[in-house]
Amino acid sequence: MRAPESAKVRSLAGRANPLRDARDRRLPRVPEPCALVVFGVTGDLARKKLLPAIYDLANRGLLPANFVLLGFARRDWGHGDFEDLAKQAAKDHARTPWREATWSRLAGNVRFVPGSFDDDDAFDRLADALHELSDSHGIQGNAAFYLSVPPAAFPTVLKQMQRTRMADNEASGGWRRVVVEKPFGHDLHSARELNELVDSVFTPDDVFRIDHYLGKETVQNILALRFANMLFEPVWNSNCVDSVQITMAEDVGIGTRAGFYDETGAARDVLQNHLFQLLALTAMEEPVEFSAEAIQIEKLKVLRAVKPPADMQRYAVRGQYDQGWLAGERAAGYRQEKDVPADSTTETYAAVRLSVETRRWAGVPFYLRTGKRLPRRVTEIALSFRCAPHLPFTATDTAELGHNQLVIRVQPDEGVTLKFGSKVPGSTMEVRDVAMDFLYGESFTESSPEAYERLVLDVLIGDATLFPRNGEVEASWLVVDPLEEFWADQQPAMYRAGEWGPKEADDMLASDGRRWRRP
Ligand code: BG6
Repeated sequence: MRAPESAKVRSLAGRANPLRDARDRRLPRVPEPCALVVFGVTGDLARKKLLPAIYDLANRGLLPANFVLLGFARRDWGHGDFEDLAKQAAKDHARTPWREATWSRLAGNVRFVPGSFDDDDAFDRLADALHELSDSHGIQGNAAFYLSVPPAAFPTVLKQMQRTRMADNEASGGWRRVVVEKPFGHDLHSARELNELVDSVFTPDDVFRIDHYLGKETVQNILALRFANMLFEPVWNSNCVDSVQITMAEDVGIGTRAGFYDETGAARDVLQNHLFQLLALTAMEEPVEFSAEAIQIEKLKVLRAVKPPADMQRYAVRGQYDQGWLAGERAAGYRQEKDVPADSTTETYAAVRLSVETRRWAGVPFYLRTGKRLPRRVTEIALSFRCAPHLPFTATDTAELGHNQLVIRVQPDEGVTLKFGSKVPGSTMEVRDVAMDFLYGESFTESSPEAYERLVLDVLIGDATLFPRNGEVEASWLVVDPLEEFWADQQPAMYRAGEWGPKEADDMLASDGRRWRRP
């Protein structure tokens, strides 16, 4: 489709510049007038991520002048209370500098509707408020609903929206979208139920399932690295790759989230979503174009080819942190954390070996692991290459040569490292590993937006490229369900806070003649 002449950016000479038209993705994208309705504004996610992200977007000039932030919560709040909470949240957690002028503009368009999820009157008032905002603030009937609420509350909220026709594009005269936070369901069955419900209330294209890892710059860079370059793709397969390790480690414990976490555990909290999405981007085939649909087709194909280990006893390990030491401080064990039952068997660590049954990846193990209270916060994807088939050097010359590795550092120290052998200066032919590093901070002056900044903006624009679809979610549960069944009546293996997980996870790799990376 050709961009209309008027939308083209004119050069100084007044001629349209064909390289910079309305489709130019380097130009800032600004949503149409709209409201963002946040359910659960007092929760951790809203205060630490969402409200700050909205302020950051406003600060970067990426929100339309007719933008309204509408909070909904069970609070007996008077005028200005929600505004104060949002301001404090933005001040405490925003990425960009504080500007009073930005806040005053935003604050003029902040609204609050009190009520609980089972209160019909409250939802009627919310529907009326949205209606009035079309007149008073020119939102043209456009609204996105962010469900920042416990998964158990999804059905009630969705049914209220159905009852009040808030989800109805036609009735509203604009667009209506919904944002659902992970975990999407508890297993395949509940995920299907939830998906059916959401898709019956909203038009399926208007449902945005958030996996915030996809909003990270370094995660999007996996696609750039693989498909914008010639260098990597020819070796990105089982001919050259020996194994892949995907790690998401955190040094923090569960903090104040016992209620959520003890019901969920590491496999459902992180493995089923964040790690599976990283695996999908690493293993997928090249999409025919960079569009939401084309990328989702490839991700779904590869996720359907992921298989759980046949030998779970050996290749599926879950653990729980015990008390220990981290960064010189004593850390409590999981069972001693506030509100965690003293006999909880919930896992805070999960590691598994998966296979991707495609021609490209046949025989290449994908080792995935995630855990809390590990020595440090790090997320990375490491491709370890096969050894050279023949080394014309003596064994002692290459004693310190390991596998070539390509490591995508998702966070922190965002960047990419390539590890390969090099001659040590001197009169002998000694070969040792060296590393070549790309660091975002050194190559780019602009700092990366927060994942939620990017994703909230995409929802308001209606760009679904970075959001998993139903099929992806269900394909992941198909792999995770058998793992959960296997673990259901087992005690988790214990590891001390500050260690890299339980010994059983090391044994798992040792039995394959490999070792976990120590990032
Ligand atoms: C969330 C999990 O999805 O991701 C949390 O629920 C986890 O348990 C968090 O701490 C980690 O996110 P990030 O972006 O800090 O790696």
